[in-house]
Amino acid sequence: MGIGKANRLARIFRPSTGRAVMLALDHGMALGPITGLEKPAGVISLLAPYADSLMATKGVFNHCYTPDGRAGIVLRASGATTIVGPDLTAETLTATIDEALMLSADAMATSIFVGTDNERDSIENLAALAGDCAPYGMPILAVTAVGKDREKQFDAKYLGLACRVAAEHGADMVKTYFTPESFEHVTGCCPVPIIIAGGPKMGTEEDVFRVARAALDQGAMGIDMGRNVWQNPNPVGMMKALAAIVHEGASVADAVAILNEVR
Ligand code: 5RP
Repeated sequence: MGIGKANRLARIFRPSTGRAVMLALDHGMALGPITGLEKPAGVISLLAPYADSLMATKGVFNHCYTPDGRAGIVLRASGATTIVGPDLTAETLTATIDEALMLSADAMATSIFVGTDNERDSIENLAALAGDCAPYGMPILAVTAVGKDREKQFDAKYLGLACRVAAEHGADMVKTYFTPESFEHVTGCCPVPIIIAGGPKMGTEEDVFRVARAALDQGAMGIDMGRNVWQNPNPVGMMKALAAIVHEGASVADAVAILNEVR
């Protein structure tokens, strides 16, 4: 691996632990002003100090982010569909390598929708982006997105297939959902690091910590959560607790204690 790509990845996977706390803030591209992320600038200034990297669109980085040279930048590079449109999975590429370089991005992210009518187009997007990024040492994060089909989110066989397909088409890291059933198979059969999304807000904070702990214990290399952080009334507590799970090996009970210290 070249120095440029290695250096960028070191701003995503903290060198001291090899693990990643990425804060997902890209939801507005399809969902508009979703609850908790109505004002991205405030969310970023509050939570960025606790994240290794931030994942957002060019619009959010250009208008809602104050550069401080600290957190890594993961530029969402696919979209152009919305939750009210005919098909959320019909994405196209929405950012270029030049835009990523202008932003000093550390990675570009694109979704693949395996098993949908747009499977081929979305995987082509990934492969094309990987081709564009390779000469510059720009890492690619593939997001194994499920569109509106939430059932797939818990299917280890589906997630294992989608993650492997992502790596085979040029992803340097893959974001997927955690499933309690056979997640080791998902991580074990994917040759690049896996980080997990949180998905819709869970019932309790403990549920979120349990998912993060279990995913890491089964081979995940980090988290890329959004709603379960910034839709929580104590988002700073959530970030601190999740960072302790990821980087310090904290247990679920430890994480609850950290959350409660911040309240
Ligand atoms: C959707 C995404 C989101 O960033 C991802 O779902 C993570 O956020 P959350 O934890 O809210 O699910 O990439 O395609």
